[in-house]
Amino acid sequence: MRKIGLPGLTSYRRGLAAALIIIGVRGDLHAQTSPVPTLPAQLANYTAVLPPHFLVPAVAQQDNTPADNPVTDAGATLGKVLFYDKRLSDNQTVSCGSCHRQESGFSDPRRFSIGLAGGLTDRNSMGLTNARWYQRRAFFWDERAATLEVQVLQPIQNTVEMGLSLPTLVSRLSAEPFYANLFTAAFGSPTITSDRISRALAQFVRSLVSTRTKYDVGVGVNFSNFTPEENLGRRLFNGETGAATCAQCHGTDNFSPGPRINNNGLENPYVDKGVGAISGRPQDEGLFKVPSLRNVALSAPYMHDGRFATLEEVVEFYNSGVVAHPNLSPPLRARPPAQGALRLNLTAAEKAALVAFMKTLTDTALVADERFADPFPKINFHDADLNRDGRISLGELTRLIDLFNTCYGSVRTGSYAVATEANEDGFVVDRGRSTDSVVILTRYHAADSNRNGKIDLTELSRVMEFYNYRSNTIRTGAYHASSGTEDGFAPGP
Ligand code: HEC
Ligand code: HEC
Repeated sequence: MRKIGLPGLTSYRRGLAAALIIIGVRGDLHAQTSPVPTLPAQLANYTAVLPPHFLVPAVAQQDNTPADNPVTDAGATLGKVLFYDKRLSDNQTVSCGSCHRQESGFSDPRRFSIGLAGGLTDRNSMGLTNARWYQRRAFFWDERAATLEVQVLQPIQNTVEMGLSLPTLVSRLSAEPFYANLFTAAFGSPTITSDRISRALAQFVRSLVSTRTKYDVGVGVNFSNFTPEENLGRRLFNGETGAATCAQCHGTDNFSPGPRINNNGLENPYVDKGVGAISGRPQDEGLFKVPSLRNVALSAPYMHDGRFATLEEVVEFYNSGVVAHPNLSPPLRARPPAQGALRLNLTAAEKAALVAFMKTLTDTALVADERFADPFPKINFHDADLNRDGRISLGELTRLIDLFNTCYGSVRTGSYAVATEANEDGFVVDRGRSTDSVVILTRYHAADSNRNGKIDLTELSRVMEFYNYRSNTIRTGAYHASSGTEDGFAPGP
């Protein structure tokens, strides 16, 4: 495990034996160490009614829904709970939603995602919008999972990502009464099996359907709703003007590939050989699946290794940076008699137009839709700042940590005494249950940098920043005591 040092905050080894005092929990929350999801009284509707342009053969044949696992409302509801449940990771700090964030088109804004014990994934997380449509059906950048049903069980067992065996998962979920109800609703009996977990997760992923973007509105009105710039971008993308060939690989109104998997010339040789790393065949080097471009403006960074931070960089890459490679897909090769990789020679306005066009594929409703949101309890800064003075006193902080502890089971609190710094043992991130025995300890007093016995919001955000970095479960944000508006201290999705 990497050792993390943040100035002023001490981290050191401590065994589980250093038992910590768990402070009494507020009455209204009860001493549940186990978060329970909040779901609507009536089952939400997950069976999307598709618009006509999704019913055409070109898109319909991309639909990877198997006949024996159609999306049902109860199945997708169970899938959503599983998707956001940190119980699916060994130390209960990471859920699928930690790396597939709703506001990022179910991708991860970080170049590489952080798994349960702080380790990084090898590749950039993939956006899941419209994952339901992919003609070759297979999943992952290198298509190593033949179906979505196979794919969804892999992150759970992956030692970097969630690190949990399926038998342990089944017995852990079987101990939660609310799961019995959810499995009964979805599958007719409370029995929990990894097959049912897989089906439900796949149903939820397939329910992440985007059909109501500005682009979709445009389909019905011949794009009269587009600005001139967006329309220029659309025509460039489709190859109706200029040399770009985007739609040959990002095709159909789902903007996903047809029957081929492609090499788009990122480098030569490829560091990560994609399909070639699995098959060992040179002719497979650099072949990568690309997910639908829907919500692509939200899912930065880009490519299997997250090498591009912005869509502008992506467009500049296609304009001038495609690298000649023996496996380079034909649409990106120079037109004979020229050799090597295609050069688009786009003007600045054309490049901007391509970006503007890709932004019409953003589905703001989908990424704000409660049906797809984390159903587990959330905590806000202002909930902690009881007297709304813009500061969190130690009493308030204790309560905050309690709340956090109660909801997520991932932090234990201890006592803090300003006077005798050496005696405190508070604010421990519990990593003792993971195979890695390192337990990181952050001290309250280290956060209270001016030693006045209170943690102000700056100090608190530093603690939270640190905590966030370590455990990937909290995001920090701005807090405005005056207006009561804050966006901080939500559990990381
Ligand atoms: C620690 C971060 C992390 C967690 C946790 C995680 N994923 Fe992923 N996910 C990734 C990364 C990274 C990839 C791409 C990996 C690759 O292709 O090698 C990915 C790929 C996928 C894909 C493939 C999409 C496609 O179009 O091929 C699906 C589907 C998916 N994840 C669903 C899930 C589900 C369901 C869970 C929870 C059971 C989950 N993920 C948990 C990081 C994560
Ligand atoms: C020959 C097929 C091909 C063509 C033509 C093509 N792309 Fe791609 N595109 C891909 C592949 C393959 C990837 C994923 C490559 C990787 O990650 O290694 C990709 C990735 C992307 C991504 C990043 C997606 C993500 O989720 O990270 C964007 C954005 C993109 N392409 C836009 C475009 C635009 C705009 C054009 C036209 C200027 C274009 N592409 C032309 C095959 C193609």
